[in-house]
Amino acid sequence: MKSDQKLNIGIIGAGMIGGVHIGNFRRDGRAEVTWIASRTQETLDRKMKKHGISNGTLDYKELLNDPSLDAVVIASPPFTHAQLVCDALDAGKHVLLEKPLATDIKEGQTIVDKTKQHPDLLVLECSCRHARLQPKFGFIKEMIAAGKLGEIYHIHHQAASRGTFIEYNPDGSWALDKALAGGGPFIDWGVYDLSFHLGLLDDRPALQNLCSFTQNGLKVYPDPELKADVEEHGAAWMQFDHGLTYVYERGSGVHMELPNQTRIYGTKGGLLFGFCSWDSPLVDFFHTDEKERHEKLEIPHPKSHDDNMALTSHFLDCLLENTTPAMTVELAAKHLEILFALLSKTTC
Ligand SMILES: NC(=O)c1ccc[n+]([C@@H]2O[C@H](COP(=O)([O-])OP(=O)(O)OC[C@H]3O[C@@H](n4cnc5c(N)ncnc54)[C@H](OP(=O)(O)O)[C@@H]3O)[C@@H](O)[C@H]2O)c1
Repeated sequence: MKSDQKLNIGIIGAGMIGGVHIGNFRRDGRAEVTWIASRTQETLDRKMKKHGISNGTLDYKELLNDPSLDAVVIASPPFTHAQLVCDALDAGKHVLLEKPLATDIKEGQTIVDKTKQHPDLLVLECSCRHARLQPKFGFIKEMIAAGKLGEIYHIHHQAASRGTFIEYNPDGSWALDKALAGGGPFIDWGVYDLSFHLGLLDDRPALQNLCSFTQNGLKVYPDPELKADVEEHGAAWMQFDHGLTYVYERGSGVHMELPNQTRIYGTKGGLLFGFCSWDSPLVDFFHTDEKERHEKLEIPHPKSHDDNMALTSHFLDCLLENTTPAMTVELAAKHLEILFALLSKTTC
């Protein structure tokens, strides 16, 4: 798709991240947000006024029926994603789809099947945001591809915090309900974790075995109306083909803070780093190239890099410059399948 005119974009779900998308399309300049759809009149009126957008609807199908619209951003809670993607593709719109892809494997497969029926339309899934669209990912992937670590045989990742999604987004009570969100931190952050870690290995590893535990009911919410049934803390041991093992721990709402840290072990060396763009740009490299030593590498990270802006620009690059999408729905579904297996297999 090549266009000298701005692309017209519709936003479905005008909550916290919907607003970020609107601002970023403006900043990029190659597209204009011409429609908002939301669920309640209150949000719709407030967001149309805030962002100065004149077309608004409580029925997203009205927006999809506008022939001048090129693409939509699906920025509503996860349980709405499958139906919305299917309807958007059937209406001929390209899609930027918020993570997680879906709330269960069946819905994920529905999205994959529908996408295959529309090979001419782009669906970019957002779990590339804090992962493969940021400079750390490319830097570490190149080190691995150049053989600097030898054969990768083990990944270790941990991150846990006392805070949960609801303190971050007070409107996001859906995130505490498994049926609406799919899960807790294993899903909310797990999609980025796998996007980063398995992406370093070109997504080749195939899961063979796992054991895991999850725990909920840890956090007492100040609002007695809030009932969480998602996991708050969990850990897993996974075995992939070709001898790769992966030890994984995530928590939100736990009584302990664990810094976001990844360790990658290879037969010739290892790395320790925090993969998020806001973590330190320094990577600890333990290697045996000349003699055994430990080196701190600084990842070139432009000050201007912003994960959300990079996502918006990447989506438009895919549409306008034929750039290869950094996350397809097939890959997102493969990652979700692993995460749902971790959630369901809670014993060895
Ligand atoms: N918050 C973040 O920073 C963030 C970051 C990355 C990804 N995400 C992902 O983005 C998605 C949305 O998260 P959020 O935090 O922005 O949630 P949010 O603040 O709760 O906003 C969700 C919005 O979706 C609307 N909505 C709900 N059902 C709808 C439907 N059937 N049709 C149209 N609109 C509907 C809601 O409308 P009403 O207000 O009218 O009910 C609300 O405006 C989730 O998949 C989340 O995982 C969020």
